[in-house]
Amino acid sequence: MSESPIVLEAKGITKQFPGVLANDNVNFDLRKGEIHALLGENGAGKSTLMNLLYGLHKPDKGEITVNGKNAIIHSPNDSIELGIGMVHQHFMLIPVFSVAENVMLGDEAVKNGSLDRNSVAKKITDISKQYGLDVDPNALVGTLPVGIQQRVEIVKTLYRNAEIVILDEPTAVLTPQEAEDLFRIMRDLTARGVSIIFITHKLKEVLAVADRITVMRAGRVINTVKPSETDSAQLANMMVGRQVILTVDKQDHEAADEILKVEGITVRDQRDLETVHNVSFSVRGGEVLGIAGVQGNGQTELSEALTGLRSPTSGKVTIDGKDLTGKPPRIITEAGLAHIPEDRQRHGLVLSYSIADNMALCDYYHAPFSSRGVLQPKALDENARKLISAFDVRTPSAFVNAGKLSGGNQQKVIVARELSRNVKLVIANQPTRGLDVGSIEYIHSEIIKMRDRGVAVLLISAELDEIMALSDRIAVMYRGQIVAIVEAKKTTREQLGLWMAGAHVQTA
Ligand SMILES: Nc1ncnc2c1ncn2[C@@H]1O[C@H](COP(=O)(O)OP(=O)(O)OP(=O)(O)O)[C@@H](O)[C@H]1O
Ligand SMILES: [Mg+2]
Repeated sequence: MSESPIVLEAKGITKQFPGVLANDNVNFDLRKGEIHALLGENGAGKSTLMNLLYGLHKPDKGEITVNGKNAIIHSPNDSIELGIGMVHQHFMLIPVFSVAENVMLGDEAVKNGSLDRNSVAKKITDISKQYGLDVDPNALVGTLPVGIQQRVEIVKTLYRNAEIVILDEPTAVLTPQEAEDLFRIMRDLTARGVSIIFITHKLKEVLAVADRITVMRAGRVINTVKPSETDSAQLANMMVGRQVILTVDKQDHEAADEILKVEGITVRDQRDLETVHNVSFSVRGGEVLGIAGVQGNGQTELSEALTGLRSPTSGKVTIDGKDLTGKPPRIITEAGLAHIPEDRQRHGLVLSYSIADNMALCDYYHAPFSSRGVLQPKALDENARKLISAFDVRTPSAFVNAGKLSGGNQQKVIVARELSRNVKLVIANQPTRGLDVGSIEYIHSEIIKMRDRGVAVLLISAELDEIMALSDRIAVMYRGQIVAIVEAKKTTREQLGLWMAGAHVQTA
């Protein structure tokens, strides 16, 4: 790669937010046709640097050059003009619009009134074909799986002739298969001269696809290395500044009585399709039951039905003997449920509330947070301070709005709140999505501590490594059914992979 020219360079970039030096004299460059991975712990400043390159924020200091020329970037329009495209950490698509409408949104030609739907659709089809992206311009975005929505975002950047594409944690929401597809697309793009900045927390991915890797910590660039010169342990160390234990320490443990009992539940999704068929299982106190499965096999609807976000059409759900079938979230929460939801921005947080308020979202109407119907700011603040420090939430204070936190730190606020409550059952859906390796290590150990205290844990995760590391028993979900339940110790990745792909059904 060393011979290809530099297409983008950031020199001495500094950006201060209230109480946080998010970028501290950052130097970064991108070469033509390379995949340059950007790694760093939650809150390190990765998204901030990308937002500066994309014109969403202005740097306090430093300069950016594109193709060797000084670039003045005041808005995304300027960066698009310079050939920079960005796919954000949290997607920006409008679900009720079609693919074509989303792609056109904000485009200059449309603003000038010269909108021609057919030619737009044709251009989208051409781009999809050229890069093997396979998207239908007429599909409604809200009905597409995340993997395809992400392709729409990529098409959108290419439609605007982007030669530099920024992907901010694109694989966090993808299934392993979708991630493989994305890597193929990324390689197709770079083969055609597109340059890519790729942010991820998954060290294996970085080592597999990147040409160069830059590691950031606390707003600074620590180093830029080649995959051939490094390994996972060294990268983890550079990211968090200490040794990270990449395996979970878990002792054998007696499970107690049944806490969660699910009997023959059937659930329909928002399109009224039956996505969970007659599912039964139970989780005992002191046990982690992991649900493995390729995303989209009913796990989302199952967890929604268990946590009150959706009513099952038949069957029964009990927690500690109490029938809670179809009850609203607050009743189930009061019966002793802690819930880490899959969609953090929709179900886990109120982005416009402070961290302190978010950390008491389930209990704010009880003592010590309320007294005779009046909120107690001191108690809220104390609780938040304790959790911020225990869970290492990177923030200048507890008063900052949750929406101002980095993606991973938003997730930490939810996990801290839920894992610190006094509960009988935890339902954790993708608990470590978007978290850095250091935070994953801590949260895994907290989940095991809860299990050791006798709490029942239902873990739903698309990461097979996470399922294998934490579970005592593993259930595999395939096409809305549980096709196998096995003791974790008695199975292998390969066997689970086969069940997940729909091979031969077996229960032990
Ligand atoms: N608009 C904003 N206002 C105030 N502070 C902000 C804003 N955007 C980011 N920050 C702060 O800047 C720091 C860097 O955040 P950034 O989003 O760049 O982190 P990140 O490396 O992308 O982390 P993650 O892996 O969790 O996504 C964080 O402390 C964050 O709280
Ligand atoms: Mg980020």
